[in-house]
This record gives sequence, C-alpha cells and structure tokens, in this order.
Amino acid sequence: DWTAANIVEESVAAIREQVGDKEVLCALSGGVDSAVAAALVQRAVGDQLTCVFVDHGLLRAGEAEQVEQDFVAATGVDLVVAEVADQFLDALAGVSDPEQKRKIIGREFIRTFEAETRRINAEHDIEFLVQGTLYPDVVESGGGEGAANIKSHHNVGGLPEDLQFTLVEPLRALFKDEVRAVGAELGLPEAMVWRHPFPGPGLAIRIVGEVTRDRLEILRRADLIAREETTAAGLDREIWQFPVVLLADVRSVGVQGDGRTYGHPVVLRPVSSEDAMTADWSRLPYDVLERISTRITNEVREVNRVTLDITSKPPGTIEWE
Ligand code: XMP
Repeated sequence: DWTAANIVEESVAAIREQVGDKEVLCALSGGVDSAVAAALVQRAVGDQLTCVFVDHGLLRAGEAEQVEQDFVAATGVDLVVAEVADQFLDALAGVSDPEQKRKIIGREFIRTFEAETRRINAEHDIEFLVQGTLYPDVVESGGGEGAANIKSHHNVGGLPEDLQFTLVEPLRALFKDEVRAVGAELGLPEAMVWRHPFPGPGLAIRIVGEVTRDRLEILRRADLIAREETTAAGLDREIWQFPVVLLADVRSVGVQGDGRTYGHPVVLRPVSSEDAMTADWSRLPYDVLERISTRITNEVREVNRVTLDITSKPPGTIEWE
C-alpha cells in the first residue's frame, strides 16, 4: 500500500541491503530531491553518510542557511560545506553570455566537488554516491535527446576514474509529489519539502548581464519580497516556479521619494507547469502583484520598475537565460 511511511520503510531496507557497512557520499543542492535522497540514506545507514554542500553564493536569500542549519537539525546528517562564493564570482567576472555562465559554473562546481570528494575519500574510503534521480528522469534519459538540450543543464557527473562510485538512487521509482510526501514523513523543513524547482546555476542566470556581488544582493532582496508575498497569499503550491529576473544592463528613469532615479527593472516570471517542458504564465491576483511591486520599489532602492512576463513556453523559456 502506497503511503509515505511504507515508501520510507521499504527504501530504508533497500538502502541497507545495497550499502551494507560501506561509506556513502551525497551532494546537496538545496533542492528537494537531493535533500530527500540524503535524508533516506541517513535514516538507513546513519553516519556512514557524508554530505557535501557547495555554497557557490548563487542561491536565494536564506537557502544556504536552510541546508546548513535546518536540514542538518532535522536529519543529523554529517555535512561538509565548501564556501566558494569568491571562487565562483571571480570566475564569472566580466561574463554576460548565458551559456558561458553555465559552463563556468558547471566547471567550478565539478572542480570544487572533486576536491572535497578527494579529501573525504582519503578519510572514509567512499564506495557509494547518492543521486536524487526521479522516475521521470529515468524515463527521460532512456528517451534520447530532446528539448532538454536547448540549454546545457548541469548535474553531478563526469567524475574522474579514481572517484567513480556505485550509485544509490532511492527516488528512482518516485514522482515529485511522492518525493515531497516522503520528505514530509522524514520531518524535513516545510520550506525545503515545498521548494520550487531552481536551476543549478542559480541566480547567475537570473541576472541579465554580468554577475556581481552587488547585483546578486539586489536580486536576492527583490526575490525574497516576491516569495514572501506569494507565500502570504497562499499561492506557493499553485505556482510551479517564480523566477525574479534583474535586468542589470537596462536602466530607466523613475521618480522615487524626493527625486529622479535611473534604476534597473526587475521582471516577475511566475509560471504554471506540469513538468517544465511547457509552461503558461500564472494569472496572479492583481492585489498580490501590486504588493510585490510596491514593496520592491520601496525596499530595494536600486530597482525603480517592476514588470510582468506574460509569455508562455514555448516560445519563451521559463528562465530568461
Ligand atoms: P527553461 O528555462 O529551459 O527551464 O524553460 C526549464 C527548467 O529547467 C530549469 N533550468 C535549469 N536547471 N540547470 C538546472 O539544473 C540549468 O542550467 C537550468 N536551466 C534551466 C528551470 O529553472 C526550469 O525549471
């Protein structure tokens, strides 16, 4: 019988059977899949598991803390954090092209993950690597190439030979809603269980233009306001994803407080979707949009215009880059 408690029980037994007394490694992204996969393995084999979190400085407000504090508190996972925001920002300096941003971030991520893995492996002799592969991923990767190739997505993969491990994939039979149910059953933080999909390259591909520390900070503040208002309006579970995009290379004239401003626009991009392959723009209530707009232009000095993206996918993609 298909309940979250049963899935947990069966997964834990299967993981114990596969892993035995060997050591296991897991990369946490902050997303729900890797979090639930790691929590299941932790439940099954406890401190044989080490988790790695690459904090590249491109997550949204509060998300790194959610992994480092709330997730660890909820699961007791042994977590290694690589604080590499400076490394990533240096590598991204001067780069505006979206695909180049993705390549740089993918490369730096692998570089960091490899270095951490070597260090941990030297102490623990790792045999297994956890991946949060879901059933739809299994089906999709069997189905050959397709629209997924429009942008170069990055996942943990392509590790060198001395770091090749056997995969543990406890979510292989599950759909997203089942993964969330399992996460809730395991006591993961609500905000993590219900988190919207978020791209690996993070906020770097939501800043149109060069990525800098200042621009990331502006975007984080605007994004947090949008999130707070949709959460307060009870809309999170109806919205598939809600990118907020900073048009960092665009300026427009405005009037804020006592004078003329020459600030940046942000774009609100709330979408509804089943699987991200196609999407429609979400018809958010006008009063929610109004609160978001008023708060952003009041509270984020550098932003003087808030716009709404009403393009479906296709022809637009969900992200702007
Ligand atoms: P697009 O923008 O192509 O996005 O409509 C479809 C889904 O994929 C996410 N996305 C990414 N995820 N690495 C990821 O892990 C990436 O480089 C990447 N680019 C887009 C996007 O947020 C949406 O859920």
